[in-house]
Amino acid sequence: MLKGLAYCMASFKEEVLSRRTFAIISHPDAGKTTLTEKLLLFGGAIRDAGTVKGKKTGKYATSDWMEIEKQRGISVTSSVMQFHYEGYNVNILDTPGHEDFSEDTYRTLMAVDSAVMIIDAAKGIEAQTKKLFQVCKMRGIPIFTFINKLDRQGRPPLELLAELEEVLGIESYPMNWPIGMGKEFFGIYDRFHHRIEQFRTEKEEDRFLPLNEEGELAVDHEIKNSSLYDETLEEIMLLDEAGNQFSKERVAAGELTPVFFGSALTTFGVQTFLETYLQFAPPPQPRQSDSGEIDPLEEQFSGFIFKIQANMNPAHRDRIAFFRICSGKFERGMSVTLSRTGKTSKVSQSTQFLADDRSTVNEAVSGDIIGLYDTGNYQIGDTLVGGKPVFHYEKLPQFTPELFVKVMAKNAMKQKSFHKGIEQLVQEGAIQLYKTLHTENYILGAVGQLQFEVFVHRMRNEYNSEVIIEPMGSKVARWVENEEAVKESMSSSRSLLVRDRYDRRVFLFENEFALRWFQDKNEDIQLYHPMETEEERY
Ligand code: G4P
Repeated sequence: MLKGLAYCMASFKEEVLSRRTFAIISHPDAGKTTLTEKLLLFGGAIRDAGTVKGKKTGKYATSDWMEIEKQRGISVTSSVMQFHYEGYNVNILDTPGHEDFSEDTYRTLMAVDSAVMIIDAAKGIEAQTKKLFQVCKMRGIPIFTFINKLDRQGRPPLELLAELEEVLGIESYPMNWPIGMGKEFFGIYDRFHHRIEQFRTEKEEDRFLPLNEEGELAVDHEIKNSSLYDETLEEIMLLDEAGNQFSKERVAAGELTPVFFGSALTTFGVQTFLETYLQFAPPPQPRQSDSGEIDPLEEQFSGFIFKIQANMNPAHRDRIAFFRICSGKFERGMSVTLSRTGKTSKVSQSTQFLADDRSTVNEAVSGDIIGLYDTGNYQIGDTLVGGKPVFHYEKLPQFTPELFVKVMAKNAMKQKSFHKGIEQLVQEGAIQLYKTLHTENYILGAVGQLQFEVFVHRMRNEYNSEVIIEPMGSKVARWVENEEAVKESMSSSRSLLVRDRYDRRVFLFENEFALRWFQDKNEDIQLYHPMETEEERY
């Protein structure tokens, strides 16, 4: 009996340690969808990668779900994909890279243990990459960089590295280095595996060329006569002498990013990247809770909900809570307690993700993401635990919306579906709801404009409710620490006083100037910004 238990524990530990859960961050068009699909192909998770750009071919990336995504050819919602590769169980969490991405993206980054950052070699660091990178950095998670599109002419690799360090403030270590680019792309000099990987090979066995102890080609090859080869050796020498040292510990601490060059479209450098990534990416990491740090190898089942989404697929009219397992093992039918309410219930409906081809999950362990069917019990940030003690994981950051609109039902007779739709979409967390004090007018806040478009579209399609939205422009939202000091007379068009959905008082200032003016006039009112308190926690 004891022997059996020891065996179970050992296999549980192995299972957990084989998990690698990451998100891919990038600016639109850098190649995130293409790389994701190639990774899934290696993992055998999909047979046909489909064609990335639905706009042209009518086929869509496996990771694109919603109707609106199809219409626009972009990913709006984050999705989760799982595959197996050489003994590892890999979970990829997709994050929308569109400039109007939502809080969903930020929260998704709270559920991963590492991130892969894709950079277009011709463009370098772009705005969205920078924003997403900062969220990863705040969490101190390891970041791996894939510089893509080497089959096209891009910027000089040394310049790209310098930009990485200057703009993002992270040190880098190139695991491999391109030999040429675009039409003259010969392949990569792999510093880590000590070999050259050829881009164009007729025979698969010629793909890898070995290096000798001096780091030069150990076999005869015409590339040796090319100036590209000499340039590469010079650059490698420079990197060896003046570049950063590789350090596993610094990678794990998020201080040093391993950099890989490749071309996702032509599947070049992707496998090498995947194999090296899996070696250095961390298994599930401990998480903070109100009863201390929770180790992923602990037996008690626990985790948190980082995203809720209704009607992801028209074929499944349901609501799904995305749950990150942080410790223990999930078994279908087990009893779990929702820490917020203390209520215990059985989880019988759960799902694992592979884009819209969802399958029922019976077992999952720390590091995995499972989907729990939800009938309205869950909220974003909720902790679920199996057995005792009941505890809470630390709160997920709330991001301050910057854009606001007034919203109302077009048809006043259809208030019921209007309210139901708003309530559910707000619970999903992509938009935030505010109400004016007496008139109870609805105001929505979001991080980007696209969220409002998604809102209108989903209200119409999923809740049969036509809505009118009236833009209010960008506002600076500040919550009030000492609500008792607030007087309604402080509300004006430049500093509109509203309530959030937890009935907290919030001022929507016209701009930073109006905020400062208000603070000068009302020194006793203590205003705060949710991100500030979050940052203090990190
Ligand atoms: P995203 O998810 O990050 O937005 O990017 P996605 O994978 O959709 O790729 C964007 C475009 O870049 C696509 O071109 C895709 O084929 C191309 N691409 C991705 N990886 C590579 C690569 O390694 N080399 C080259 N040359 N192209 C790559 P597209 O379908 O033609 O769209 P578009 O360029 O007209 O927008």
